[in-house]
Amino acid sequence: MIPHVGLREFASAAAGARVEPDPSNLMVEFRLPARSTPIPSPAKTLTQAIPMLDLARQYHSLRPDILAAVERVCASTHYILGEEVATLERELAAYAGAAAAVGCASGTDALWLALLATGIQPGDPVITTPFSFFASASAIVRAGARPVFADIDPRTFNLDPARLATNLRDGQHQRVSALLPVHLYGQCADMSALTALAEEFKLVVIEDAAQAIGAAWKNTRAGAIGHAAAFSFYPTKNLSAYGDAGCITTNDPALADHLRRLRNHGSPRRYVHEEFGWNSRLDAIQAAILRVKLPHIENWNAQRRQRAATYDQLFLAAGLGAASLGTTGSPITLPWRDPNAHHVFHQYVIRAKRRDKLRQFLADRQIGSEVYYPIPLHLQTCFAYLGYREGDLPEAERAAREVLALPMFPELTEEEQKRVVEVVAEFYS
Ligand SMILES: Cc1ncc(COP(=O)(O)O)c(C=O)c1O
Repeated sequence: MIPHVGLREFASAAAGARVEPDPSNLMVEFRLPARSTPIPSPAKTLTQAIPMLDLARQYHSLRPDILAAVERVCASTHYILGEEVATLERELAAYAGAAAAVGCASGTDALWLALLATGIQPGDPVITTPFSFFASASAIVRAGARPVFADIDPRTFNLDPARLATNLRDGQHQRVSALLPVHLYGQCADMSALTALAEEFKLVVIEDAAQAIGAAWKNTRAGAIGHAAAFSFYPTKNLSAYGDAGCITTNDPALADHLRRLRNHGSPRRYVHEEFGWNSRLDAIQAAILRVKLPHIENWNAQRRQRAATYDQLFLAAGLGAASLGTTGSPITLPWRDPNAHHVFHQYVIRAKRRDKLRQFLADRQIGSEVYYPIPLHLQTCFAYLGYREGDLPEAERAAREVLALPMFPELTEEEQKRVVEVVAEFYS
């Protein structure tokens, strides 16, 4: 039996409250400069590489605070969970506008634990998007459930509620127990429509907010909308640790307590195990680092939004880039902002004609770019047992052929952005 709590209650409780490289796709190394190593100024690197992401610039600006936080934890000799993690959890919950946050080992574990804690049973169908990072769907399999892929809205790349509604009402998706929307690239899925569907069909909603810390839908932040939400603090995310880390947020205190047990061997007290749980604890050094960074997230997200606006202006000034899909003649389509969404631009993603050739052209000029994601999940070999075939989810398949993410991080300079746009313009000239 799946516990069901009204989403409207959650939404109204939170009403006052106010993406990326995947592990395999990093454009810069994680090796950090030694204290004596001068950090190259972005202007000097201009004729050199423009990476997708440069973590060294952020580290340089925070270095004394980060090192002090690490020293504090080392000196405390309390390395796992403890006060550092509990304080971070309170701070994250307050930031997201949720009642509670529960730290865990990764965003992948956060999704899996959320599915278990909300009562998803083996064999339960769980609807998600085929156009996401693998973990959005593998977490469903790991919970013993069955992913059901529904196509995306071509403008936002997120689950398309209209198609989903048709499929649910036609009885195409039967016995579904949960909805797992992903807020891809830092923009929330249409949570009004998805929440309404969840209420109609009695579905648990688990937000995959891995790429969306600080994003919002109609003034409610990602993490405070569904029954539970999963965040990742993987080093490339908008709020990032120096290792793996994640958390689950929820407005249900009982669910939060259950999650705290599940992440720690199912144990409410030392050596007492009333149910099975696992080791998915957050360590105190990562929590301390995240606590240094959390106060900066609003500013970093604002800078990302600014960089996105700058790209838009530069592309339009160069005569490139239709602002909406289907505009003829333009070789690229700029990212679409849903007016109800506060987009935090984890990634700035365009659709591009001759995408792979453009990507090579950029790489030849040492400009980073990435394809998130080149193979939609329903066509991945490991999901062949689900029986999907090419053509089943045409919008996800088209997106996989057309999307290209350009360099995006708060410290990216306007000079670097101009160079990126110049090179794109040169390619299409
Ligand atoms: C959409 C999405 N879901 C889940 C995850 C998994 O997070 P993690 O890498 O922390 O396990 C990621 C990030 O890698 C992601 O981008």
